[in-house]
Amino acid sequence: MNEKQPIGVIGAGWVGLVTAACFADLGHRVVVREIVPGKVDALRRGEVPIHEPDLPELIERNGQRLTFTTDMAELLDAAQLIFVCVQTPPTHSGDADLSAVQRAIEEIGDPEGKALVMKSTVPVGTGRSIRRDAPDLAYVSCPEFLREGTAVRDFMGPDRIVIGVDPGDERAGDEVAAAYEPLGAPIVQTDLASAEMIKLASNAYLATKISFINEIANVCDQVGADVTEVAKGMGLDPRIGPRFLNAGLGFGGSCFPKDTQALKMLAGNIGYHFQLLNSVIEVNELQKRRVMSKLSTHLDSLVDKRVAMLGLAFKPDTDDMREASSLVLASRLEGEGATVVAFDPVAEDAARELLPNVKMAGSALDALVGADAAILVTEWPEFAALDWADVAKRMANPLLVDGRNFLDPDVVRAAGITYEAIGRPSIADRSAVTKAER
Ligand code: UGA
Repeated sequence: MNEKQPIGVIGAGWVGLVTAACFADLGHRVVVREIVPGKVDALRRGEVPIHEPDLPELIERNGQRLTFTTDMAELLDAAQLIFVCVQTPPTHSGDADLSAVQRAIEEIGDPEGKALVMKSTVPVGTGRSIRRDAPDLAYVSCPEFLREGTAVRDFMGPDRIVIGVDPGDERAGDEVAAAYEPLGAPIVQTDLASAEMIKLASNAYLATKISFINEIANVCDQVGADVTEVAKGMGLDPRIGPRFLNAGLGFGGSCFPKDTQALKMLAGNIGYHFQLLNSVIEVNELQKRRVMSKLSTHLDSLVDKRVAMLGLAFKPDTDDMREASSLVLASRLEGEGATVVAFDPVAEDAARELLPNVKMAGSALDALVGADAAILVTEWPEFAALDWADVAKRMANPLLVDGRNFLDPDVVRAAGITYEAIGRPSIADRSAVTKAER
């Protein structure tokens, strides 16, 4: 059997660690270079600094093939293919902050025979400008489409692999394609700028789908339709598809908010007003606050009320709090005078500093005891298994707003809880609307 290409990975964040562990599992020797020494020490001890299902097992299983170091020279000595997996957070202007990418490129230099494979999400045009400054270093754009919480599964079973190169770098592109070949996914080989745009456009499109269904949900609330039924009926049309049609408290995380903003700014910087994307972003901001009006239909005031938040992370199976809807919601609730008590199965540590006034409970039930209202913010599976009759007895006022349309309304209502969701008025409310129209 042929020896597999050694791989270098710069950045031991979420993308870097998943990429490194999965390539090691495919048989590559992988050197991961991370600038934070504490992280490297922890990884060498076998501690994984992020919550991502299956990742710790994968790292442990492939320990022999994985090296963690702070030393760029060690990576450059070992590998020809260098995957750049560093953060590109938004700047104050909304553009992507490329300083971590630039630092990595400066350290790599311009060595002949090596290829830089860009995994970080960068503005269209970044590849060409890096290529101009480092003419001997081949450059491949290979955007990642992994979702947090299912990243290992997504890596091993991708829908597609996108590989972008400009003329002269075809060989490096083929080497990257060969590394992904065992996964059997369709490979889209294209030019640099198009590959960069595929990434931004894909995330912007998915975000658009979410904002669209959220607006449909808001109309459903008014006209007595149930958005989950509407989404089911829409999604069976293969031109629409069922995924990313879950209405709720809006999208968060490190990707959609940042990438929609970055694409909007990219367009704006060249004089194009991306009207649709502006609306997608605005709808999402308002959606995070929608629960407030739901609460106010049942409670006169939130002053001195105790509100339980079930879930804090931006989605289940992660402890990532970046752009989580819970952050906006907690501030709004506190601003209205409420005391917020929260429970999240894994994000408590990540959330504590960001939400200094929120009381962290040891369990969902602890958060709910004595609460005047509860909001389901993150659809952790364990919340569906709660004994709602018991919850109804323990809450001071049994009112629940399901911000993710996650629970079975009949079960929760049967337990004696007033149940509100997003775009799912009760059958009683729906027939009231219909009668009023008659
Ligand atoms: C997203 C993309 O799905 C990945 O393909 C991409 O690689 C990644 O961004 C990235 O650019 O790195 P991720 O942010 O991990 O992945 O999470 P998603 O599962 O896409 O969810 C994003 C947000 O949208 C979450 O807050 C989720 O609750 C929300 N969402 C998702 C909805 O509100 N409704 C839906 O129907 C789906």
